[in-house]
Amino acid sequence: VIDIASLYATTGAFTYDPGFTSTASCESEITYIDGDAGVLLHRGYPIDQLAEHGDFLEVCYLLLYGDLPTKAQKEDFDYRVTRHTMVHEQMAWFFRGFRRDAHPMAVMCGVVGALSAFYHDSTDISDPHQRMVASIRLIAKMPTIAAMAYKYHIGQPFVYPKNELGYASNFLHMCFAVPCEEYKVNPVLARAMERIFILHADHEQNASTSTVRLAGSSGANPFACIAAGIACLWGPAHGGANEAALNMLAEIGSVDRIPEYIAKAKDKDDPFRLMGFGHRVYKNYDPRAKIMQKTTHEVLGELGIKDDPMLDVAMELEKIALTDSYFIEKKLYPNIDFYSGITLKALGFPTTMFTVLFALARTVGWIAQWKEMIEDPRQKIGRPRQLYTGATERDYIAIAKR
Ligand code: ACO
Repeated sequence: VIDIASLYATTGAFTYDPGFTSTASCESEITYIDGDAGVLLHRGYPIDQLAEHGDFLEVCYLLLYGDLPTKAQKEDFDYRVTRHTMVHEQMAWFFRGFRRDAHPMAVMCGVVGALSAFYHDSTDISDPHQRMVASIRLIAKMPTIAAMAYKYHIGQPFVYPKNELGYASNFLHMCFAVPCEEYKVNPVLARAMERIFILHADHEQNASTSTVRLAGSSGANPFACIAAGIACLWGPAHGGANEAALNMLAEIGSVDRIPEYIAKAKDKDDPFRLMGFGHRVYKNYDPRAKIMQKTTHEVLGELGIKDDPMLDVAMELEKIALTDSYFIEKKLYPNIDFYSGITLKALGFPTTMFTVLFALARTVGWIAQWKEMIEDPRQKIGRPRQLYTGATERDYIAIAKR
């Protein structure tokens, strides 16, 4: 009989780190986070500067190529992305196979995975050119697919991309235009959408990005890897948190009920957590949350929304949490999801679309990380070990004798 403990003792040591709290899974040159200082840099550029001055495709270029583009490079990149915004017409039928009441994230998992059935050339991961084509296809088609998921969900006809519009404007157009009415994209709202995309573009080795890398480490095609990332992102502890945060703000309903929820969040026997608070890496204010809060005010101002009870609850909740000893001690600050829900709701999106928008924006981060991994000569299949804690070896017993 094998003694498991002595087996481990003879096969060498390995680390046990559930949740990877102190284990690096890779080297990367893409994104740097200093969680204690509340710093987020993409290829060295601070997120607030990118969100303030850049546009989303410029950030995509930066993540993929490592540097900000020149004017000519940017024009060429915009052109290449724009050329790929259409999806194969047969995909429209693929959507129609889903129930109308399906969660749009369930639809996204299926449709994005199915891209590999439509774009066979881009599944050849050994060809650097095809790797870039796959990256551009994904960045270009995600808004179209996300808008189709939305239109299908609400029972309206699909709207084709309008390529003279910018990336965010085109997305708003595909979501909110209807065939029988004139629709003009509001530039302030388009800029807010663009900023939301920039803020979500990459965030180093979070759960979904690590999922994409792990899936890709086996040589799986990029569309399948991104579908794996979408599936992981859907969880409420990750991308589903903005939906959960908005639902929580609606449930709290008014400022006077906040103490009740703060007490629930502190109660060790209550599984309730304040959604939109806390982060594995940030033990300081999430730098994206600050920009998101500003964007929320801009959007509400532009739309003339003066008294939003959810915003009132959010601001008061933030104030209380930032001065409460439990939250201070545990370093629980608002994360990006805390304000993004209010903004997305004001832009006209139902809560079920929130994580879809996150997936759309994060696609560039996923694909940039996937490419970086594939292009690393030291790349190996990801294969974590485990600490076995089950039964020791024993003999099979016939069913009649058990
Ligand atoms: N409300 C109340 N208490 C909390 C919260 C919260 N939102 N978050 C953490 N805590 C407490 C935990 O109960 C734990 O207390 P303990 O030490 O007494 O056991 C302590 O703070 C540490 O929490 P962990 O869960 O161990 O921290 P971890 O780093 O694993 O979790 C996470 C981070 C998942 C983000 C967590 O803070 C959380 O669940 N937040 C709410 C969901 C959310 O907003 N997710 C979005 C993340 S950002 C993103 O994906 C873009």
